[in-house]
Amino acid sequence: MSFEKLRPKVEEIINAEGASTDLRLQEICELLKAEIQYYTWVGFYFKNGDKNELKLGPYAGEPTDHTIIPFGKGICGQVAVSNKNFVVPDVSAQDNYIACSIHVKAEIVVPLFKNGENIGQIDIDSNVPDPFTEQDERFLEFVNEKVAEIL
Ligand code: SME
Repeated sequence: MSFEKLRPKVEEIINAEGASTDLRLQEICELLKAEIQYYTWVGFYFKNGDKNELKLGPYAGEPTDHTIIPFGKGICGQVAVSNKNFVVPDVSAQDNYIACSIHVKAEIVVPLFKNGENIGQIDIDSNVPDPFTEQDERFLEFVNEKVAEIL
């Protein structure tokens, strides 16, 4: 499904007021994983209270051992401190990378801001090499803006 068609579907999930926040985030992960062929794993990480670490939130895909990631470690930990999107076309070329599965070829992490503060991120793994474009970045920024509305 195209990003244009996915945007209203994301809004529909966000606006489902009967559902808990975690359930809505879970549904977004599942929607993206199901509808975007090269999204192999989709998950949210959030700052873990006052600690300088990320904690895994809702996700769709294989379970990961990396439920806690210290700031600065891996692609996710780097985004926690840089506040910038991180697009990795080839994970094997990254020194500071935490492997979750041997099948993953590429990754994109987009920070999630609430009132200007970087409070988490959406993380996508792909088994396809170099699949992400600026369209993915714009779409994932949109998803995070919508998610921020219900946090
Ligand atoms: N690869 C990530 C770790 C999280 S998993 O992809 C789910 C990283 O390097 O931060």
